[in-house]
Amino acid sequence: MGEYTTILTETHGKVGLIRLNRPRAYNALNSTLMRELTAALAEYDADPNIGAIVITGNEKVFAAGADIKEMSEATPVDMLTSGYIDLFDRIRAVRKPIIAAVSGWALGGGFELAMTCDMIVASETAKFGQPEINLGIIPGAGGTQRLTRTVGKYIAMEVVLNDRKLTAEEAARFGLVNRVVPVERYLDEALELAQQIAERAPIALQIAKEAVNKALETSLTEGLAYERRVFYLLFATEDQKEGMKAFLEKRPPQWSGK
Ligand code: CAA
Repeated sequence: MGEYTTILTETHGKVGLIRLNRPRAYNALNSTLMRELTAALAEYDADPNIGAIVITGNEKVFAAGADIKEMSEATPVDMLTSGYIDLFDRIRAVRKPIIAAVSGWALGGGFELAMTCDMIVASETAKFGQPEINLGIIPGAGGTQRLTRTVGKYIAMEVVLNDRKLTAEEAARFGLVNRVVPVERYLDEALELAQQIAERAPIALQIAKEAVNKALETSLTEGLAYERRVFYLLFATEDQKEGMKAFLEKRPPQWSGK
């Protein structure tokens, strides 16, 4: 892995773990952190020994959003030319599954980062919010879009227009998180989930992620047609032959990723 100053990286078996690490600034996502995060994700995405990725913060904070100090004097042109928000699209483009392990605050861009991931494991202390309205702005990295698609218009309006914070339990009820676990367990739980996923057939995994994401972007007819095409495509893989043969021979499959 590259040399990073605002994140820490560790490998756990087939799982790449990225810890956001600016604790004194509540892991505010400054441009260095976002550049390093996207570089580390690209490294893990390209590494054939990695099957899934976990992004986490610390027990107290996942991330408190974009760095307000860095942005406070910015012009629209600065925001546009910095490419800061575009970095969220690079996270979205990662082909391997990404799990956010969230404890404490996930605010603004921090919440948006968690929602850009594919699954969210939350500790009981997790709190989610889009407080941008207090700064005279709105969410800029998907907060009005991904949140609304998940929780619906009415809750999203309250979160975005009136800084309503969601507890972990509410987030689970609204379908925003996969599970809520005690704070001592949230990272292990996310790593175990990632490890299970990382053991699965790599090509099918990548196609499955793409297909689920497609559901948010197309009509049902187009989505079903897309699913059918990639379903047929998987019959060209060695892993499909191996998976079905192993089932019939009552043994675990050996995936080759081909
Ligand atoms: N940017 C920069 N610094 C931040 C920060 C942020 N988003 N959030 C917290 N910090 C810093 C504080 O300035 C403070 O630093 P100092 O000790 O140097 O003063 C330190 O982290 C601790 O913060 P607090 O003293 O405020 O701690 P607290 O426990 O009282 O409150 C908090 C914690 C609720 C997270 C509070 O800090 C807070 O509300 N932070 C701002 C959250 C926010 O508005 N996020 C949206 C940012 S805009 C955005 O994200 C746009 C987008 O869509 C991409």
